[in-house]
Amino acid sequence: MALVAQVSVMLNWCENQMVKNRVHDLAILGGEPAFSEKLYVGRPNIGNRERLLDRINQMLDNRWLSNAGPYVQEFEQRVADMIGVKHCIAMCNATIALEIAIRATGMKGEVIVPSFTFVATAHALQWQEISPVFCDIDPSTHLMDPQKIEELITPQTSGIIPVHLWGQPCNVEAIGEIARRRGLKIVYDAAHAFACSHKGEMIGTFGDAEVFSFHATKFFNTFEGGAVLTSDDDLANRIRLMKNFGFTGYDQVEYLGINGKMTEPAAAMGLTSLESIDDFVEVNRRNYKLYQEEFAELWGVRMLNYDESQRNNFQYIVLEIDEGATRISRDDLVQALSAENVMARRYFYPGCHRMEPYRSMERYRNIALPETELLASRVMSLPNGTVVGENEIRRICDLVRFVLANGPEVTAGIRKRMARAAPAVPGEAMAPGRN
Ligand SMILES: Cc1ncc(COP(=O)(O)O)c(C=O)c1O
Repeated sequence: MALVAQVSVMLNWCENQMVKNRVHDLAILGGEPAFSEKLYVGRPNIGNRERLLDRINQMLDNRWLSNAGPYVQEFEQRVADMIGVKHCIAMCNATIALEIAIRATGMKGEVIVPSFTFVATAHALQWQEISPVFCDIDPSTHLMDPQKIEELITPQTSGIIPVHLWGQPCNVEAIGEIARRRGLKIVYDAAHAFACSHKGEMIGTFGDAEVFSFHATKFFNTFEGGAVLTSDDDLANRIRLMKNFGFTGYDQVEYLGINGKMTEPAAAMGLTSLESIDDFVEVNRRNYKLYQEEFAELWGVRMLNYDESQRNNFQYIVLEIDEGATRISRDDLVQALSAENVMARRYFYPGCHRMEPYRSMERYRNIALPETELLASRVMSLPNGTVVGENEIRRICDLVRFVLANGPEVTAGIRKRMARAAPAVPGEAMAPGRN
């Protein structure tokens, strides 16, 4: 009770607009939202608008809008130089980039992937009638466990798609060793990991190829976009052909291809974002340090820490909620925050293996991924990026503490209201399935 009183005093002191003395001052229980505008987890970072518009104007003057135009070429060269690989092939998004990388590396049959990832990782395989074989994760890092990878290899296995989740590097040494010994291809899903490093080497340099996402919700965006990176000349050549319908000449087609091309406006946004990338990272890092300080001693909450000896983009503020200790579930906390216009999100619930089409397929019926399932019930993320500053973060953290300090009462209040009305969707975002 003393803790509750202390927290409510702090809320009054901290921000005049947010007076939450009692549990029923929470917006989920009928009070006013703490924020008048929604604070999203992945609100796009925008670089220098003038530079972007200059580029777009020049593009319109040139009338070169797509098909490996000058901006795409420059963007590919800049990214390849920044990461330290021979080839960067820019694409329309990371999902198509993954599909093309999977096909170009010759994966077939079965490919081992985590289930605790955005569903695009699995869909990129299933779309090509390759079966994703879901692997459990290491609960301390949320990354695929190399020992468990080995146990899943069968004569049908052709590759591994590990995910550098939250921008953290996978155990590339152990996974590389398994792949070499068992003759498997590796394509890393590095959608979260642009501008991150591992032991001094940039992510983007590992495996047969790596795939970045530049989707609007990523800290660095090209509106929509992605890229495959590789230092394998033959593989790069195949990927370039495949992303442009298989054309080798003006009217010569040598491959089964698809349209995976990045457009010029997207590349113009990419070039402009690259000019501000250090600022984006610095804002994320500052925010991350503040969250870390605020949540240092929060009972029942573990915040994911990044290895600060390496380069990180610090995009994701990831919390694990241990309901046994907090006495409020992750979902109820997310709902309570959403009502305050803090659009916290659960991630990657319920795990790919519990989504269609996988959950209805015979081969996944008895799948056991205990760590994935536990984590999917506990993980949530909080807003970061250039749309939140110190004031917002301190208020968000006060709110989290206030809800947790009153866990059972908030839960009971939510249940009572749910009995009367349809519940809000936990982690409601701008559009369903927003990644
Ligand atoms: C882990 C992961 N893989 C793949 C993707 C797909 O990226 P895109 O939206 O660029 O297709 C995402 C998107 O968020 C992702 O988080």
